[in-house]
Amino acid sequence: MKLLVTGASGLLGSKIIQLATKKGFQVYSAYHQNLPKQGTPVQFDISRKNCVEKAFKKIRPDIVVHAAALTHVDRCETQKELAWRINVQGTENIVKSCEQHQSYLTYVSTDYVFNGEKGNYRETDLPTPINYYGTTKLKGEEYVQNLTQGNCIARTSVVYGSIPATGKTNFALWLLDKLRRAEEVRIVTDQTNSPTLNTNLADMILEIVERRLMGIYHLAGRTALSRFDFAKTLAAEFSLNTKLIKPATSREISWTARRPHNSSLNVTKATRVLESKPFKIHEALTKLRDELSPHK
Ligand SMILES: NC(=O)c1ccc[n+]([C@@H]2O[C@H](COP(=O)([O-])OP(=O)(O)OC[C@H]3O[C@@H](n4cnc5c(N)ncnc54)[C@H](OP(=O)(O)O)[C@@H]3O)[C@@H](O)[C@H]2O)c1
Repeated sequence: MKLLVTGASGLLGSKIIQLATKKGFQVYSAYHQNLPKQGTPVQFDISRKNCVEKAFKKIRPDIVVHAAALTHVDRCETQKELAWRINVQGTENIVKSCEQHQSYLTYVSTDYVFNGEKGNYRETDLPTPINYYGTTKLKGEEYVQNLTQGNCIARTSVVYGSIPATGKTNFALWLLDKLRRAEEVRIVTDQTNSPTLNTNLADMILEIVERRLMGIYHLAGRTALSRFDFAKTLAAEFSLNTKLIKPATSREISWTARRPHNSSLNVTKATRVLESKPFKIHEALTKLRDELSPHK
């Protein structure tokens, strides 16, 4: 089974290629600037239609997981053209090539398609993004929904984890590093999400593609937490000083893009349908501690 993963050098993609390789998929790891460590590397810019077509023609993938995106929320706000080119046109290019080669597609989307006014969003809730990142990811979803053959939209939220392939950091690793240096951090109390361990998410996505499930799935951690509570829980799990974590409000932090107040995802559907269940927070953090253990 030929599996093409875009964004293979990213936080999620690198986990997917690691686990898919172990499962015996023939893995093609698509990247733009950072060489992935596993799978057969394939370099192309998703915003360049002819490059995407050329790669698909050569690989002829049975399955595609499209995880490449411009994920920097503030950059999407200040560089709208670039965000549109990567997140919208890039997704359109992937969708068209999937159509041409009859490849099954899973597109990774975000909780930021919701405005965050109510939280606990189900797959059937109406998305109304409040920032440009969310707008571009939702537009990508629309292209995927136009595909006539098998496809799935997997929405996730605040992804964190140990990164096997790149030196990039994420909220959890950044926080652990700060606390180990005994530095104080200010974390917002007024943003709630469903923090998601990349390993748990990669497992769920691979089950989705193996079973060729269709439609929208919310694939995220099972525990909704404010950033502040997530930080405190993480610190406690790693026996670090929780007192270094000070509360702040979004207004005090000068972000360019607006963030949803509560974009937590309801994962009832995934919990019911999948064998790989969304993890509760303590299950996820125990797994993360294990993955980061120096003996691994
Ligand atoms: N991280 C989160 O908290 C979060 C939350 C919700 C949803 N998501 C979604 O989950 C997916 C994966 O996110 P992530 O955190 O793993 O992302 P990430 O770590 O920021 O990685 C982004 C990936 O996209 C690739 N990419 C960017 N521009 C590209 C281009 N023009 N052509 C080809 N590849 C390009 C990058 O390749 P190079 O590194 O090689 O340049 C990298 O592999 C994304 O679709 C994102 O929208 C993420």
